[in-house]
Amino acid sequence: MSLRPGIIERWRSDLPVTDATPLLSLQEGDTPLLPSASLAAWVGVSELYLKFEGANPTGSFKDRGMVLAVAKAAEAGARAILCASTGNTAASAAAYAAAAGLQAVVLLPEGKVAAGKLAQAVIYGASVITVRGNFDDALNVARDAGAAPDVSLVNSVNPFRIEGQTTSAYEICDALGDAPTVLALPVGNGGNITAYWLGFRRAVERHGVRSLPRIIGAQAEGAAPFVHGHPIESPETVASAIRIGNPATWQPALDAAHDSGGLIGAVSDSEILDAWKTIARLSGTFCEPASAASVAMLRKCVADGAVARDTQCVCVLTGNGLKDADRALSVAMPPIVIEPDAGALARALKW
Ligand code: F0G
Repeated sequence: MSLRPGIIERWRSDLPVTDATPLLSLQEGDTPLLPSASLAAWVGVSELYLKFEGANPTGSFKDRGMVLAVAKAAEAGARAILCASTGNTAASAAAYAAAAGLQAVVLLPEGKVAAGKLAQAVIYGASVITVRGNFDDALNVARDAGAAPDVSLVNSVNPFRIEGQTTSAYEICDALGDAPTVLALPVGNGGNITAYWLGFRRAVERHGVRSLPRIIGAQAEGAAPFVHGHPIESPETVASAIRIGNPATWQPALDAAHDSGGLIGAVSDSEILDAWKTIARLSGTFCEPASAASVAMLRKCVADGAVARDTQCVCVLTGNGLKDADRALSVAMPPIVIEPDAGALARALKW
């Protein structure tokens, strides 16, 4: 038998795993790295790849860090895991807790979580708690409550989350034969940009990779604390996954952009939605709005000269568009309704 390995087994020697760590897996990782010539042309670069993290078992990159955080919690004898979330962390925590036989408690901001993510948390059997406040308020509650014995906090302040998320950088280097020149990704709480930079540096130290990428982080204009240099009291954006005003991982996220020669910038909601639709139509990849911020930001960087046209780029599409189907239906043309005959079809299509 040859089952596909999850990230703990695949990257065991690069992760803080011991003989006592359970080999927890939902077969996460090993996600597609899709070249798209037509999207590259739209963005304005010579070579563009989409790292489609929406292909992970719960539909987001969170699975890479969550599998390790939950395995380590189980190893340490935890009874429950706890997190605050804009939705994806909750879905992932709920799934891995189910697989590991632990209780998951997820704290969600009131009214701002995409329906698919809520559905996941509920069906995996998590205790779902809605907090009257935004993500930052929910994270404060989780951090205070997470101090209880035998409850493990699995937000990205948990170092195992960051460790697990480094594995995407290894996969990209393996697939391309080196690091790309530029890596663009959305930034919310600051964990993933930190993990990628750590992963690429380790790929150079340990895996013989020759170069490091410039890392470009994308925030939404209404939720851009890294760009403004201070927390934002009431963050607002259509990209609910990155509607975060007070990121938990601050300095390492800024360091990743700065030390790599990159930047963290902001794009408007309309630029995000425009990129979102264009990614789907030109590449056949349906990501969630927050993910599209990476492509929108890269395009902006090309337009203002921060990224040269002759550049090999990877954009990380962090989550699956099916999680936010309502939003897709609200921005796309509604279906055409016809009587059940071929003539009606021809008239509707003007054939
Ligand atoms: N993209 C998606 C789809 C996300 O869900 C998140 C974060 C990010 C990007 C930003 O990553 O926080 O590491 O900078 N979602 C978290 C959650 C906050 O609760 O699911 P980050």
